[in-house]
Amino acid sequence: MPAISCSAPGKVILCGEHAVVYQKPAIAVPVFEGSTKCSIVAKPTAPHDETIIIAPNIALKCYLSCLVEKHPIRVAINLVLKKLQLDHLPVCEIRINSTLPTAAGLGSSASTSVALIRALSTFLGSSFADEEVNQVAFEVEKIHHGTPSGIDNTVITYAKSLFYIKDQPCEFILPGKQVTLVIADTGIKSSTSKAVSEVLLGYQENQDRFEALFNQIGDLVVSAKKSFINGDQISLGKTLTENHMLLQKMGVSCDKLDVLVDFALSQGALGAKLSGGGQGGNMIALVKSDEADIMASALLSKGAVNTLITHIPAKGQ
Ligand code: PMV
Repeated sequence: MPAISCSAPGKVILCGEHAVVYQKPAIAVPVFEGSTKCSIVAKPTAPHDETIIIAPNIALKCYLSCLVEKHPIRVAINLVLKKLQLDHLPVCEIRINSTLPTAAGLGSSASTSVALIRALSTFLGSSFADEEVNQVAFEVEKIHHGTPSGIDNTVITYAKSLFYIKDQPCEFILPGKQVTLVIADTGIKSSTSKAVSEVLLGYQENQDRFEALFNQIGDLVVSAKKSFINGDQISLGKTLTENHMLLQKMGVSCDKLDVLVDFALSQGALGAKLSGGGQGGNMIALVKSDEADIMASALLSKGAVNTLITHIPAKGQ
């Protein structure tokens, strides 16, 4: 029997992370240079008649029954079964391969969930629509991150750039001019739920200060959306850099992120900031498309452990 295979991209948050958890807008874009593929093949004669999960990039190879109840992969499988009103999964082998780094702000957890949910619903004969995939992936994100805004699962499910406000229908947006981002990995693994909890603590201790920061970020995102749509990259870049400064004030940057951001700006980036939960993970630099390779090499020379270049095609391209 042929394997069912489904893929999902990664993502970066262009602006608005953290404040988006507090109902402020954010912009996220899919990243196709890293992705997750989930393949499922029926194994009715497998030894022990057990479904096996193989996910090399998270060093996982075990029977489904050996995963703890709250393991995100097990939760995703159970949610798909529940939605389809099935009480058991036919014996199969589920293989998940991802080229996305984990705990790095590129959406590896949501990408895994989306690829798995799509492949499994198809394997079970009832391919979920995007809305269903997104809804199940959001439930799984809660296991990973506690109180996710939902932006990661949404941008990865639809694989389109979006302007997002929690609990509101998202708005897909296209840039007026191609946007090129260099994404550079600090190599520091960071936990989104830890960063989100620390922001919550800061908010509880000093509500006025954090509310002011969230509002300023919300205003920047609205202005970034206009620049993005109008193709005004100079203004978009400035907005991204200002967003980084507000994230620093929020306490979610770190020395290496700051070094890479400052260096990118010194090398001619139009704007630069951390992306995602922060405290490590990746930063992004907005650059002219013909300067992307040089910027990527420069960031590697400054200590980035990996770089990706992604282009968001302009409307009509
Ligand atoms: O998963 P990450 O590290 O890309 O971060 C997601 C963005 C946050 O705003 C920090 C959290 C959220 O749920 O929106």
